[in-house]
Amino acid sequence: MMMRNIVVREFDPNKDCLGVEDVERRCEVGPSGKLCLFTDLLGDPICRVRHSPAFLMLVAEVGDEIVGMIRGCIKTVTCGKRISRNTKYTTNDIEPPKPLPVYTKLAYILGLRVSPSHRRMGIGLKLVKRMEEWFRESGVEYSYIATENDNYASVKLFTDKCGYSKFRTPSILVNPVFAHRLIVPKQVTIIQLNPSDAEAFYRRKFSTTEFFPRDIDSVLNNKLNLGTFLAVPRGTYSPDSWAGSDSFFSCPPESWAILSVWNSKDVFKLEVRGASRVKRTLAKTTRVVDRVLPWLRIPSVPEVFSPFGLHFLYGLGGEGPRAAKLVKALCGHAHNLAKERGCGVVATEVSSREPLKLGIPHWKMLSCDEDLWCIKRLGEDYSDGSLGDWTKSPPGLSIFVDPREF
Ligand SMILES: CC(C)(COP(=O)(O)OP(=O)(O)OC[C@H]1O[C@@H](n2cnc3c(N)ncnc32)[C@H](O)[C@@H]1OP(=O)(O)O)[C@@H](O)C(=O)NCCC(=O)NCCS
Repeated sequence: MMMRNIVVREFDPNKDCLGVEDVERRCEVGPSGKLCLFTDLLGDPICRVRHSPAFLMLVAEVGDEIVGMIRGCIKTVTCGKRISRNTKYTTNDIEPPKPLPVYTKLAYILGLRVSPSHRRMGIGLKLVKRMEEWFRESGVEYSYIATENDNYASVKLFTDKCGYSKFRTPSILVNPVFAHRLIVPKQVTIIQLNPSDAEAFYRRKFSTTEFFPRDIDSVLNNKLNLGTFLAVPRGTYSPDSWAGSDSFFSCPPESWAILSVWNSKDVFKLEVRGASRVKRTLAKTTRVVDRVLPWLRIPSVPEVFSPFGLHFLYGLGGEGPRAAKLVKALCGHAHNLAKERGCGVVATEVSSREPLKLGIPHWKMLSCDEDLWCIKRLGEDYSDGSLGDWTKSPPGLSIFVDPREF
């Protein structure tokens, strides 16, 4: 059934907040008896896109009633790499030529919702098409979405009706924040890098990783960024002897690892709804025991049945034989920071083939093995021709997940 009187227009924060929240609430109702995750946007419907360089939110209206919405944002990211034409590489060179990033303008669609009472009327499709018009006008080359693998309606909408194809399946790894602190091994030194040092570090090591944002400096300087931490074997570098990333890379230790922490807690809150009283009581008991007897180190279930915040770990990487161990130490450090700041969980998202996944502690029951990313090419004439079509390229080992979009 197609409805004629649907108006799609830009979201107006002065009058649309309540209507949008209402649709949001109606969409979160899961099947009865099953757990569902409720997201509280803390009164700001644009919160999940507002930190991107360009963003837009549209609403669909029938009469006076808001019945659907969509958010989108645009930025420039790495879609591949090439060898600089200016680099001459002879067999006498000790170092091979450095690959350079190929950038593209990428759009991301998120937070598409249609009120259950108005589904299968073409509203979702209309919202996506209007959003894509804005992308095209802005010179976007590729557009992508992330959805759960088993969200049949959404996968069908994007792949069957909108021309998207399945692209990457990164894993979302979630670990609870316990009532006890985690121990960072003594053999590991953790150094906090300032934003400009972190920027130099990331540009040097990660700029050819797919989805690396060219404006990484604005991510690192954002007030939601809580810091970038580097882990090295004890005795190699220390916070006192730290002389910047350039000096570090002139003589790097055999192994190192890095990650940054993003304060999603101030952006949105989550809540698990629909749990039985028995489950709640069990969870509460483990927490109480963990708080009272922390030395037992009981893995307490976090307080997920009332609204909780999270920290998101991003820019995670490392090199050397001990990199996974160093990542684990960094995750312990990040856990303790999350505990101090009252978070319920710590989350990260990495490529399904990420070699350092081994070092990231997580609970399977809270994590999502395959987050499905679907992509579409909107324009053909923008990026460096040497790369070809990104949508057809094989995945790399790693991806850079932008915390602004989690
Ligand atoms: C996904 C969602 C936005 C679709 O909105 P909608 O307005 O019902 O979608 P449309 O009417 O425009 O459907 C367009 C096409 O998508 C596909 N589709 C949509 N819902 C479907 C469903 N429940 N089952 C199968 N296919 C579906 C169909 O191909 C449909 O075309 P058709 O009706 O001609 O067969 C809506 O179901 C929703 O809000 N779901 C909950 C939130 C969500 O999952 N958001 C997506 C996260 S990215």
